[in-house]
Amino acid sequence: MSPPRGARNALFPGSFDPFTNGHLDLAQRALALFDRVVIAVAHNSAKTALFTPEERVAMIEESVRGLRGVTVMQFTGLLVECAEKVKAAVIIRGLRAVSDFEFEFQMALMNRRLAPGIEIAFLMPSQEFTYLNSTLVKEVARHGGRVRGLVPPGVERRLKERLAPSRHTRGQAR
Ligand code: PNS
Repeated sequence: MSPPRGARNALFPGSFDPFTNGHLDLAQRALALFDRVVIAVAHNSAKTALFTPEERVAMIEESVRGLRGVTVMQFTGLLVECAEKVKAAVIIRGLRAVSDFEFEFQMALMNRRLAPGIEIAFLMPSQEFTYLNSTLVKEVARHGGRVRGLVPPGVERRLKERLAPSRHTRGQAR
């Protein structure tokens, strides 16, 4: 569905494997600034993910159900082409710490070169999420640690379903 004429649309892309409360925090912040926020799940066949793009989209849709103006999609190929497709003039990325900056800066400048009309805006999540990332969440869940409060409830449930069997078989391979 094409966005309403004149609406300010932002694209919030990422791997979201899985979507965390830090991502949710950023989506809410973006929604306070834009009329419509499109969360775009990157489908990168070269990268091994725990969840399929379809599963990630479903989890995010469930997590943002109460947020009017947020939609979720998956994309392949270049991010700027996805932004053009959904008529987003701004791409949102999160900056948690200085360590994020170098990669984000390179990516932003490359995207600007590819599509000079698209701006990249960096948002900071709440302080409580500055240490949070999807890789850490998976690592904790894989070892049976508590991820409640770090991810939306539906993501927590799916992490348990996906990773719990490996806990039960732990030690059996000896
Ligand atoms: O959550 P991530 O893994 O940091 O997200 C990275 C993502 C998906 C935004 C980035 O890898 C991306 O834009 N991929 C699409 C391909 C592309 O446009 N690459 C050139 C970016 S300079």
